[in-house]
Amino acid sequence: MGNLRTMTSKTASIESVGIIGSGIMGSGIAEVAAKAGHTVIVRSRKRETADDMVIRLEKSLGKQVEKGKLDESARDAVLARVTATADLEALAGCDLVIESVVEDLAVKKELFGELDGIVDAGAILATNTSTLPVVELAVATKRPDKVCGVHFFNPATAMSLVELVRPLTASDETMATVRTFAESCGKTAVEVQDRAGFIVNALLFPYLNNAVRLLENGTASRDDIDEAMKGGCNFPMGPLALLDLVGLDTSLAIIDALYDEFRDPNYAAVPLLRRMVAAGHLGRKSGAGFYDYAR
Ligand SMILES: NC(=O)c1ccc[n+]([C@@H]2O[C@H](COP(=O)([O-])OP(=O)(O)OC[C@H]3O[C@@H](n4cnc5c(N)ncnc54)[C@H](O)[C@@H]3O)[C@@H](O)[C@H]2O)c1
Repeated sequence: MGNLRTMTSKTASIESVGIIGSGIMGSGIAEVAAKAGHTVIVRSRKRETADDMVIRLEKSLGKQVEKGKLDESARDAVLARVTATADLEALAGCDLVIESVVEDLAVKKELFGELDGIVDAGAILATNTSTLPVVELAVATKRPDKVCGVHFFNPATAMSLVELVRPLTASDETMATVRTFAESCGKTAVEVQDRAGFIVNALLFPYLNNAVRLLENGTASRDDIDEAMKGGCNFPMGPLALLDLVGLDTSLAIIDALYDEFRDPNYAAVPLLRRMVAAGHLGRKSGAGFYDYAR
């Protein structure tokens, strides 16, 4: 049984958090939640990748100790709250599960159906999807009122925003509970309806896609496009560097999902982006994208 405790009639407190996926976002969310005092179980399909995530977390916290941002006892307490597993059943007692696997609706739907049969019936099942219809995940379960989006930004440890995505099926209590959770993690929460791209990506990805278009049609060089947006708009990084940070495969999936939903030609992925993904040039995580990254 989960230990979901009722605080008021409108919200329940979240103590234990399950995270599925130990990629860029799953790792970041695990660190954020553990630092906020939650018990965290990270599930990856392979035990080794789940363990690698814990090793990366140890390194990340170690650097924070070196810089004087965290003391050693706090580091040890955070690490003591995190466990890794390859077993989905280990999430059975979680109050909240946040799914953060590959941006693929079929994969996520199957996972939600499976989770529904494992995780305590009172728990909330959330997705970190960037664009996919959350309602489709909700109706893959027998608890559609307890399914919503909890969308962190990359890097989750540094970015202050969380979008809370409300599918038509979610209850007010579910939305209030995830708001309390996001705020417990020190994040600013905004609520948004279940439409592809939500707020941030619906505005951001047409811009990123158009930056690739300028590169592809020879309007300007990679470096000049990035310099222009840093110097001209005061953005902390240029669009092509940002695509590399997000991951070109994830970016393409987001742009395709926006196009599928709205059929707006401005959302049609630029061929160069699709070809780079086909070539395995996925950005920082693969060592090469618009820029090269020493591995
Ligand atoms: N990268 C970003 O900037 C960003 C920001 C916000 C939200 N997101 C969303 O977070 C989610 C994860 O993205 P990421 O950037 O961490 O990706 P990633 O490629 O770093 O990690 C993906 C994870 O999914 C797992 N996975 C792949 N195929 C799977 C399958 N068939 N079944 C189960 N697990 C599988 C991988 O092993 C890995 O742990 C996506 O829904 C993405 O849209 C990404």
